[in-house]
Amino acid sequence: MSVVPNAGDGKVTVPALVQRKSAADSPSAKIICLTAYDYPTARLVDEAGVDVVLVGDSLGMVVLGYDSTLPVTLDEMIHHTRAVRRGTRRALVVADMPYGSYHTDTAESLRNAVRFVKEAGAEAVKVEGGERRLELIARLTEAEIPVMGHVGLTPQSMNALGGYRVQGKTPDAAEQLLRDAHAVEAAGAFAVVLEAVPRELAAQITRELQIPTIGIGAGPDCDGQILVINDLLGLTFAPAPKFVRQYANVGEAISNAVREYCRDVRSENFPSDAESYHSGEVLKRRKLMHIDC
Ligand code: KIV
Repeated sequence: MSVVPNAGDGKVTVPALVQRKSAADSPSAKIICLTAYDYPTARLVDEAGVDVVLVGDSLGMVVLGYDSTLPVTLDEMIHHTRAVRRGTRRALVVADMPYGSYHTDTAESLRNAVRFVKEAGAEAVKVEGGERRLELIARLTEAEIPVMGHVGLTPQSMNALGGYRVQGKTPDAAEQLLRDAHAVEAAGAFAVVLEAVPRELAAQITRELQIPTIGIGAGPDCDGQILVINDLLGLTFAPAPKFVRQYANVGEAISNAVREYCRDVRSENFPSDAESYHSGEVLKRRKLMHIDC
C-alpha cells in the first residue's frame, strides 16, 4: 500500500498535496478541502482534519450578504484570510483572489497576490479561469506563490456565462474545459478546482492531469472534494445546489437558542442570581452563611 503524504498530523504542504495524486489508490489520499472565513471556524475545521482551508470569495455571499462574489474586495479577503490563518495550524491556507484583483495587468495582479502572502499569511492563492490565465499563473508561480486553478463554473464570470450553470455539457464545451484544465497545469498550478462539471468529464480530467483535481459538483472521481462550509452546516438562506450534502442544521440551532434567550430575558428567567455578581456587603453575608458566590 502506498504511503499517503500528510494524511496524519504533519503540516500540509503544497508538494505533499501534489504527491497525494500518486497515492490515489488509497482512500486516505483523498484531499479534503473546506472553506472558512473566520478564526473559530478555521480552528474547528483544521482540528477536525481538513487538508486545505480555502478562504473563498463565497465569503461575499454567505458571510457579507452580497448577492454575488463580484463586490468582494481585496481588503475584505485579506482581513478574513488573516483571521483564518490565525486559526489554522495543520491545513494549507489558500486565499481566493477576488474579482478585479487579477483582471488588469500581470504586475498589479502579482502585487495583490503578494499582499495575501505577506499581510495575511496565505500559503497559496486561487484564481478562476483556464487558458486565459496561463501567463498570470506562470508569473505567480515564478514569484514563489503556489496557485490553485479553478475551471468549469467560475462564479466571477457569472455575467459572461449568463448565470450559474453546469459547464462542459456539449462536446465543444467539454473540449474547451479539457484545454482549460491542461493550460492551468501547464502554467504551473499545483491543483485545480472543477466546479459544476459532469462526473464523466471530471473523471477524464482527473485521469489526464498530473496535478490533483478538487471537485465541487463534479462527482466522486476527483482527487479531492470541497464544499462551502455554510452549505455543509445548513447556515445559508438560499436553497442549496444539488451537489451539497448538508451535515447539520446550524441555522436552526442558532435560531432556537436565540428564541430561548429572548423568552428567558422576557420572563426574567435570565440572568439568575447565580449568574449575577454581588456587592461586598452581600458577599460577606453569603460567605458567613457558606453560600457559594
Ligand atoms: O469561493 C469559494 O468558496 C470557492 C469554492 C466554491 C471552490 O471558490
